[in-house]
Amino acid sequence: MAPAMTSRIDVSRIRRIAINTGGGDAPGLNAVIRAATLAALARGWEVLGIRHGYRGLLDGADPKDLIPLDADAVRGITHRGGSILGTANKGNPFEFPVPQPDGTVLATDRSDEVLRNFRAHGLDALVCIGGDGSLRIAHRFVEKGMPIVGVPKTIDNDLSGTVITFGFDTAVSTATEAIDRLHSTAESHERVMVVELMGRYAGWIALNAGIAGGADVILLPEIPYDLEKVADKVRRREAAGRHFSIVVVAEGAKPVGGGLTTQGPKEVGREVLLGGVGQLVATEIARRTGKETRSLVLGHLQRGGSPTSFDRLLGLRFGAAAIRALEAGEVNVMVALTPPTVKTVPIGVALERLKVVTTSCDTVLTARSLGICLGD
Ligand code: F6P
Repeated sequence: MAPAMTSRIDVSRIRRIAINTGGGDAPGLNAVIRAATLAALARGWEVLGIRHGYRGLLDGADPKDLIPLDADAVRGITHRGGSILGTANKGNPFEFPVPQPDGTVLATDRSDEVLRNFRAHGLDALVCIGGDGSLRIAHRFVEKGMPIVGVPKTIDNDLSGTVITFGFDTAVSTATEAIDRLHSTAESHERVMVVELMGRYAGWIALNAGIAGGADVILLPEIPYDLEKVADKVRRREAAGRHFSIVVVAEGAKPVGGGLTTQGPKEVGREVLLGGVGQLVATEIARRTGKETRSLVLGHLQRGGSPTSFDRLLGLRFGAAAIRALEAGEVNVMVALTPPTVKTVPIGVALERLKVVTTSCDTVLTARSLGICLGD
């Protein structure tokens, strides 16, 4: 993806903007919607919420998929999980899945419809709240002439250009609490408990929650694991009188020389679903150590529920900053946290590469200093 330059719009032309949320939901979405809406209304702009990504802008859309957002519509939502606009992680308008009579699904480009309807509704700009996939779609719409400001959302924290995405802190807190709870049952039964966490191709959630929750082993996508090293850690704990172990596995973790564990083939218009590596690791630990082992997948619990105060505040700051960017005439940018401030970066820069865990970062070094096995 070319690192497209930022561009400018004539701010005096802005009368009406839209907001949409795409991809997997993340705690803090409603905080962004609230701040962006109130900041836009304060400038005299009208705000429309597009439900479920771009669904409200497709030909034949249900009129209920475009909602006028006023102060009442966004009242009392900062602390609520999910998105009042709904979201969508399938239905990319550039690769829209259309089922065929023979049972196959054909990817169809419906982006022109979206652009035409965007203009027909008198929309001057879009605030697009999304992760890697949604901002990639936004970037393609920018190239077609749609003025967009992006807001970085994902529990995976894998977007470049921003130190952190909103939703990540809540996911880490939820995962840490789950690991805390596993300790007592693991210890009572003298078992190995393996917990698989989300994060796709980045190990941020597993690394942060694993360290905070006192895991004994953390397996990350960025460090291919050797099961013998993992089994050895469990055996050494056993020999030291620690008859239980907690193993955190990122869903994107891979064995040395091996590949990702997926839940089936990639469907048209959506990302491949990862999952299942935790159970594979658990089975092997049991076989190699003879320890009773159980595994669980924390799954969508990491995305649900009320955002932490950190994510609420970050969401509110991002929403307000997106409108300030538009007011300054900036489009084709993403708001980004670079402490202590929120600034903008070109959307293309945020998409140049996934932000994954660097093996030399201080958090990885901290894990090693604590004696946590990283599978290598
Ligand atoms: O990108 C966010 C995320 O929660 C990933 O961590 C996970 O792999 C994926 O979405 C799950 O997607 P779905 O909601 O389609 O199951």
